[in-house]
Parts: sequence; structure tokens; C-alpha cells
Amino acid sequence: MKIRTQVGIVGAGPAGLVLSHLLHRQGIHSVVVEGRSRQHCEQRVRAGVLEQGTVDLLVEMGLGERMKREGLIHDGVEIRFREQGHRIDFKALTGRGITIYAQQEVVKDLIAARLGAEGEMLFEAEGVSVHDFDSATPKIRFHDYGEPSEVLCDFIAGCDGFHGVCRPSIENALTIYERVFPFAWLGILAAAPPSSSELIYCYHDRGFALHSMRTPEITRWYLQCAPDEDLTQWSDERIWEELQTRLATRDGHRLTEGPILQKGITGMRSFVAEPMQSGRLYLAGDAAHIVPPTGAKGLNLAVADVRVLAAAFTEFYISGNRELLDRYSETCLRRVWLVQRFSLWMTSLLHRIPGNDRFEEHRQLADLDYLTSSRAAAQTFAENYVGLPMS
Ligand code: FAD
Ligand code: DHB
Repeated sequence: MKIRTQVGIVGAGPAGLVLSHLLHRQGIHSVVVEGRSRQHCEQRVRAGVLEQGTVDLLVEMGLGERMKREGLIHDGVEIRFREQGHRIDFKALTGRGITIYAQQEVVKDLIAARLGAEGEMLFEAEGVSVHDFDSATPKIRFHDYGEPSEVLCDFIAGCDGFHGVCRPSIENALTIYERVFPFAWLGILAAAPPSSSELIYCYHDRGFALHSMRTPEITRWYLQCAPDEDLTQWSDERIWEELQTRLATRDGHRLTEGPILQKGITGMRSFVAEPMQSGRLYLAGDAAHIVPPTGAKGLNLAVADVRVLAAAFTEFYISGNRELLDRYSETCLRRVWLVQRFSLWMTSLLHRIPGNDRFEEHRQLADLDYLTSSRAAAQTFAENYVGLPMS
């Protein structure tokens, strides 16, 4: 099977799907080649926090209907330490807020929109590889249910996440900046109503904890744990006990418990590949960069990349002008590094860092004290959390 398209996209995560739909709206044809099944993509439990800019773009793309109905709008978050909560009021500080709407719901909406527009998506592609991106006719090769197949295109967009094939294919052209953290997150989904109306980021002697939610009936929780943590050691009882301990408040408020529906461990790393492009292969989203999840930025950053990439392809197809394409990496990396900075700061603020001495712990608590008592500090936090303006 041979398919000809303008932009060949590897990966049907948020980056690949948003790019494909943005291009479609500009009359540019694309084909998405995805290694996993549609069902797998639609059920993968990951992010939950959408910046206002991400929401606005999805609405503009015609994807706002269900998100507006089911998404939860939050005007602030709580920072909890020393058993006390402190609210940061995003609305008052920035005029903006965040929306809680699960990544897999965004993916479902995007796949439905692509199918509705007769967009070509090839799921369960095997042995995907990318070729000839230094020529005018790059190719994506794979097996489609056993049949050798090829997508011939003008450009390839590598939207295949951190473990994909696109970035390794241009490894020699890249400089890698990386930091791996000596801790991870144990994340759970529980059939229990939220214990508070907003997210709670909590610093505790026993480690970081986070209260989040998906719907008025489903909560999402995270606990700092070891990178090689053995999930089998975490019974439901132990998880709830640990959450109750870390999130305990002076007034004795108890968290609402319920059956645990899903458990997983997420490693923590900061990673940037520079430049985000080589020849006619452009990287976007997690394929190019990873942020530790504390700032809730990964998905939002992936969407910011493809917004820039879609505008650059559009400019190219309208006028033949490659200027925006040539500046793609530089444009994206400015935001990437600003978001790296914020995510690293929030991670260091809220986690127990193995090896830290008592002095460092006091400095961390002083940082939390300052964040929750100074309007200037809270405003800086809020401005970054709700999302920096799109450049
Ligand atoms: P991905 O979602 O990884 O998509 C890549 C796609 O490519 C996948 O479908 C994959 O199957 C496919 N693929 C991979 N290899 C190949 C191949 N060889 N061939 C074909 N297809 C391939 N971000 C936020 O903004 N807010 C949050 O609240 C947040 N919380 C998070 C919590 C957790 C526990 C985790 C793990 C992440 C969180 N993130 C969050 C990060 C966010 O989920 C990612 O940044 C986001 O998924 C990136 O989207 P992407 O499209 O670049 O990559
Ligand atoms: C969620 C994930 C995050 O990484 C975060 O910082 C806040 C919320 C979530 O999955 O809901």
C-alpha cells in the first residue's frame, strides 16, 4: 500500500491529532500513522489539566462542545503544607483559570472529529520507520496488518511521544539536555467524589501528594514514591492510609475514599532535544521534550508546539515561504524552556528530595511560606500555571 499526502504524522496522541485537525482546517492533507489501537489511545489515563489557551484552541477547532459540558472549570488551587491549606486564586491574580478534562477525553473528541472529516488515521501500524527526510520526498514505512506500506509526503511530523522512533532517527543532529529525578509518582483513579472542590498540591515530610479529579464522581491522586517502586506492595488500604497521612489537616478533615480503579507509576524527568527539527522531519510534543508532571504542562506544551507547526505549514503551502518552518524550533524552544523552568521549580518546591539536609528542608518550607503569603509570588505562580501567552 502506498499513500501520498502532504504531511505524514507519526503518533495519534494529542500532538499528532491536533496537528492533523488544524491542517485539515487549512485545507492541508495529512495521514496519521499510530502504533497502538484506537481503543488503547482513547483509554490511556494521563493528564487532566488544560490551560485556558489549550481550551480556547480546542473550542476554535470545533471541539469544545463536550469539553464545555463535562469539563470542570477551576479558578484556583490549594497549596498545603504543615497541615494547612493556602488557596492561590488564579482568577483574582490573572483573570484566567484552568479546565479539568481528561487527556483521553480530548483524544476521543479529536479522533471523532478526524473521522467526521474523513481524516486518514492508520492504527496498529507495525514496525514504523521514517526515511529520506533530507530529500523532497520523505517516507513513513510500516506494516499495515502484515502488508508492507508507505506514506509518501512533503514533510514528516514526529508526534510519537518520548519512546517513539522519530527523535532517534535524527539523533546525530540533536543536542540533548536531560535531568532524571530520584523519585516518581504513584497515580491512582478512584471511584470517590472529590475531597475538595479544587486541586491540592501538598508538601509533606513523607513526600509530595496531589488531589485531582476527573468528574464529580471520580478522583485522581498522586503520591511521591521511589522510581523503582513495586506496585504490588501498594494495596488499596496502604494507598488510602498514605494519602490520609500526607494530606491530613489540623482540623482533622478526612479524604473521601472509594474503590481504586487504576494504578500506575510515572517516572519524572526533564528533557529537551534541540533543535526540534532536521531536514523535513519536525518533532512536536513529548517526542521533543518532557517536563516533570508537577506543573501539569506536558499536554499543553504539545498543543503549543503543533499550533506553531500548523501555522508554519500553512504559510508554506499558501506562499511557498519557509521562514516560519525554519524558525519552528527556535519559536517553540523559547516556550519549552520557560515551561521547563516552571516545572522544575514546582517539582523542587513540593517534593522531598532524597539527600537534602535539614537546611534545605527549611529553605523549601520558607519558599512555600513566601509563595502563600506574598501576592507577587502567588501572581508569578498563577501566571505560569494558567499558561503563558502564546507567542
Ligand atoms: P503522546 O501522548 O505520548 O502520544 C504519542 C503517540 O505516538 C502515542 O499514541 C503512541 O502510541 C504513538 N507512538 C509511539 N511510538 C510510535 C511509533 N513508533 N509508531 C507509531 N506511533 C507511535 N500534561 C499536562 O499538560 N497536564 C497534566 O495534568 C499532565 N499530567 C500527566 C500525568 C501523568 C501521570 C503523565 C504520564 C503525563 C502527564 N502529562 C500532563 C503529560 C502529557 O500526558 C503528555 O505530555 C502528552 O501525552 C504529550 O502528548 P504527545 O502527543 O506529544 O505524546
Ligand atoms: C493532574 C496531573 C498533574 O500532573 C498535575 O500537576 C495536576 C493534575 C491530573 O492528572 O489531574
